[in-house]
Amino acid sequence: MDEAPTIGLWVNGAWHEVAVPPGTALLHVLRNDLRLNGPKYGCGFGECGACTVLIGGRAARACCTPVSQVGALPVVTLEGLVKDGVLDEVQHAFVQEQAAQCGYCLNGMIMTVRALLDAGGARTLDEIKRALRFNLCRCGAHVEILRAACRVCGVVLEEGMP
Ligand code: FES
Repeated sequence: MDEAPTIGLWVNGAWHEVAVPPGTALLHVLRNDLRLNGPKYGCGFGECGACTVLIGGRAARACCTPVSQVGALPVVTLEGLVKDGVLDEVQHAFVQEQAAQCGYCLNGMIMTVRALLDAGGARTLDEIKRALRFNLCRCGAHVEILRAACRVCGVVLEEGMP
């Protein structure tokens, strides 16, 4: 039987080599080979956003990204946002707003807001809602998630919003 080829990739600032078939989803490499469990397996079809990571600075669905397509682009996972044990500002905002119920969507929410901030942020609640519209939360943390995103983007909410 042929051995799987070795594929190299940058993840959270470190070079890794994994022996997997080229079509293997990046999500499986991150979780199974690199033991990075921040990105979650939700739908597996690019629909829910639970698996979101940054690839080349842009939010991407790791469940439907073949590892062989990543190339030299840097991958950042939820774990990679933490520097010297200190939470990233987005993670911190989610903690401050207690923006989680079951927490399964949280990875995708945080990584998508991180990408939004890196791309210039948002000035209004509507812009934040637009950025998060493809990230699904199936329990009840929507309001807190939006509040966390507004907090870190500097969007001031009027009384009673969202
Ligand atoms: Fe990737 Fe749902 S698990 S989008």
